[in-house]
Amino acid sequence: MEIKVYKDYQAMSEAAAEMIKNEMKQDNHIVLGLATGSTPIGLYQKLAESCAAGEISFQHASSYNLDEYVGIPMDHPESYHTFMNENFFKHVDFPKGATHVPWTDGVNPEVDCRAYDEAVQKAGGIDIQVLGIGGNGHIAFNEPDESFTEETHIAYLDERTIQDNSRFFDSMEQVPKSAITVGMGVIMKARRVIILANGANKADAVYKMVHGQIKPQVPASILRLHPNVTLLLDEDAARKLKK
Ligand code: GLP
Repeated sequence: MEIKVYKDYQAMSEAAAEMIKNEMKQDNHIVLGLATGSTPIGLYQKLAESCAAGEISFQHASSYNLDEYVGIPMDHPESYHTFMNENFFKHVDFPKGATHVPWTDGVNPEVDCRAYDEAVQKAGGIDIQVLGIGGNGHIAFNEPDESFTEETHIAYLDERTIQDNSRFFDSMEQVPKSAITVGMGVIMKARRVIILANGANKADAVYKMVHGQIKPQVPASILRLHPNVTLLLDEDAARKLKK
């Protein structure tokens, strides 16, 4: 795992955007794995600016998101479909149908999960996977558990995650309690992983991911077994790391 520390959020976002732009300049038929959350918003803004400036184009690219809540409509202001449209897709030039966000209406979740894994596989897997990390060490919605889950699945959100996500909802009751999420298979098979973390509230999770045991109770720790991971941090998120 390569670790890079930047002075602030802007510098971290800029560096992540440069990495993706460089890959896209080598091969614009790229399959991107995308994340939601506050962390990658700066990265998406930088990529959108580069696209507007004509430096990169997503016309031959496609994308697969990590996860989506279960139990709120697709057009809910806090759904990950809405998040991706508002923060990224509507600002860049992906062709229609090239962006994918998992979805289940809850009627046949197993069918929806299998279909998503098959779609990613049919696309040839992910070239660059963008990740954030939850305060409890989760990636996508792979929450701390007794074992790692390989396939796309329905996850029941951890108390800490519900608490963290409640800032986007009017009340705790409105925060979805489950989600459809890719498992570790899609993430670990990605050719390259870029994981971002900023802010002091991520310092413990970052410390455990980097220095702790590799175990499903710290889902992000599995990334230490991936051959091509870059961890981009701001100084606050990096402050507990050993020199
Ligand atoms: C959510 C998402 C994760 C994301 C995490 C951190 O739970 N499912 O993919 O990494 O939140 O979010 P933030 O970047 O807002 O801290």
